[in-house]
Amino acid sequence: MCEIYKRGMLLGLDYKNNVAFSLGPWRDDHTKKSVLYGTGQVVVWYLATDMATESDAQNFTRFLSSDEFDRQQRMSCTKTKKTYILAHAMKRFMLFYYFDDEPQSWSFQKRAHGKPELCCPNPLNIRFNLTHTDGFAVVALTRESNIGVDVERLGRKVNHHKLASKKFSTIEYHNLLRADATNQHEIFLRYWTLKEAYVKATGRGLTENLRQFYFSLNPPHVHFIRDNQNLLASHWTFFQLKLCENYIFAAGIHEAQRADAYFHIYPAPIDLMRCQTF
Ligand SMILES: CC(C)(COP(=O)(O)OP(=O)(O)OC[C@H]1O[C@@H](n2cnc3c(N)ncnc32)[C@H](O)[C@@H]1OP(=O)(O)O)[C@@H](O)C(=O)NCCC(=O)NCCS
Repeated sequence: MCEIYKRGMLLGLDYKNNVAFSLGPWRDDHTKKSVLYGTGQVVVWYLATDMATESDAQNFTRFLSSDEFDRQQRMSCTKTKKTYILAHAMKRFMLFYYFDDEPQSWSFQKRAHGKPELCCPNPLNIRFNLTHTDGFAVVALTRESNIGVDVERLGRKVNHHKLASKKFSTIEYHNLLRADATNQHEIFLRYWTLKEAYVKATGRGLTENLRQFYFSLNPPHVHFIRDNQNLLASHWTFFQLKLCENYIFAAGIHEAQRADAYFHIYPAPIDLMRCQTF
């Protein structure tokens, strides 16, 4: 594992990924359009929701569609509501930032198991996925490839033995039990976020049988229980980081034409979102 510092600030921790990436402070980039030209290029924005005030969240509702606005209005938990608004405002602002059309103008439809995607026509074949958890939101954007992301807070209370015995493959479960007790929670979340990234990339969500595939961790790599599926594994790229000390993030992309992936990771430019007038 390797800690990543920029200007003396700890930004994240690399779990021995086999994938090229950059993780840095926000940088307004005039070459931003070219970042998403190549296949396998992925841009990831993340936001610790504490970075935004309640009035930011209110202000950012102007980026939402009427459906998203209504959905957050029905939420009774203030924290969940704030995270939802920030995640979806960030998704729309990100589309605006990289592809120019105003945030409210993007429309989405749901696939069979609920995966949102851009409505057709989508000539640039833009793909995205988002994830939110207690205090944190992440959006990933790419082109051509199916993408799935997941984030979990390290301190999250979860009965990892029980869940792993039901949802993990035998290999993952045994690897978890073999690990030092002090590391088990983190290892559980590493497997869990990778598995979720996979089922979110396929779009089948938890209807997918989580025991039919398993991960090795260093570097993250998927394997399928059925041998005849392992050719498929070569089309998958997985990536995992610890962000802001407490959040385990995983992403998976599936490429029909295998290309080297590159992850560009930034904290969401909240100041830019605040001052944008539409
Ligand atoms: C999609 C799913 C797999 C992920 O859910 P999750 O981990 O709760 O939530 P995440 O924040 O990672 O992702 C939710 C977002 O993924 C997207 N999404 C929804 N369905 C999806 C699907 N089938 N495939 C990909 N993405 C999907 C949506 O944008 C959704 O956000 P929204 O509802 O605000 O629009 C969900 O089907 C699910 O059932 N999760 C259960 C999680 C669980 O049991 N966790 C306990 C263990 S720690």
